[in-house]
Amino acid sequence: MSEKRIMEISKLLIEAKESIQKASSTEEGEALRIEFLGRKGKFAEIMEKLAKLPLAQKRKQGQEANSAKTEIEYLLAQKNKELSQKGAEKIAATEKIDVTLPGLAPKNGHIHPLTQIQDQIVEIFTSFGYTQASGPEIESEEYNFDKLNILANHPARDMWDTFFVKDKGMVLRTHTSPVQIRYMLKNKPPLRIFAPGRTYRYEQIDAGHLPNFYQCEGLVIDKNITLADLKGTIEEFIKRLFGPQAKIRMRQSYFPFTEPSVEVDMSCTVCKGRGCGVCKTTGWMEIMGAGMVSPQVLRNVGLDPAQWQGFAFGMGIDRICMLKYGVEDIRLLYSANLRFLEQF
Ligand code: PHE
Repeated sequence: MSEKRIMEISKLLIEAKESIQKASSTEEGEALRIEFLGRKGKFAEIMEKLAKLPLAQKRKQGQEANSAKTEIEYLLAQKNKELSQKGAEKIAATEKIDVTLPGLAPKNGHIHPLTQIQDQIVEIFTSFGYTQASGPEIESEEYNFDKLNILANHPARDMWDTFFVKDKGMVLRTHTSPVQIRYMLKNKPPLRIFAPGRTYRYEQIDAGHLPNFYQCEGLVIDKNITLADLKGTIEEFIKRLFGPQAKIRMRQSYFPFTEPSVEVDMSCTVCKGRGCGVCKTTGWMEIMGAGMVSPQVLRNVGLDPAQWQGFAFGMGIDRICMLKYGVEDIRLLYSANLRFLEQF
């Protein structure tokens, strides 16, 4: 009877040794620990049986069982150490971190293409010796229209599709031209100013029109100023912005505040004048209205037209931006579409 028990202990030891040797993960090792040494494990079973033996046998076999248990504990601990080291090696080999690799750079914001063009306009006119001026976007009808010789009830007012605001006599400025009036009322000539800013018109939205867009006004008042000065200034400005190959042409036009008035076209940069969708196959793009300041406007701000002359222009910044970058739809400039904007 006692022989049998010892056999059981040695058999169990052999079984445990074999299983531990085969274990290939720390999880398997833990399962074996529970199987042999756990509270309801195989050794616990043997101990229970030993407890019922007579004292002398219990002592002898108990010692044997204990030393077998200690051996298994030791083997399990060894195996565990080996396996966790292997695991670490495996992780080190497959999940290597190359600390010398450059990190992911955080994305930098950048200047919107419209602002880039506006910055260049500021730079060019500042280098010409012009002063930057500005005015409010909610403007009086008096400055937006009357003082510019666009009289109430005159059909010329229909040239600007106007947003009226609740305040009587106020509008969202339809152009930057009221800045001319404000500046001439406050400053004595000679003067040279440019005034970039937002303007508003009640427009049907399409590829070329939005109810909100940007203009840059220009105004020069001095003695002996002629249309040739206007042409030379615009030509130089365009060449600085687009390069020496850029050409302009002037067509006669009408504005109540200039006399004579012109529209300035620029050779289409997208098709180089051959004709494309952007320039509606004409090879030219209209970029601004301009002209010699009307004597009536000079009188409206208290200047004597016999003494002072000047020219003025109002260019569309969006148009110029579209021409410069070959953008075919103005709406893209206001879209907040990063895939579009990141190209500039
Ligand atoms: N204000 C005019 C417009 O918006 C442009 C212009 C400005 C024309 C100055 C002549 C002189 O259409």
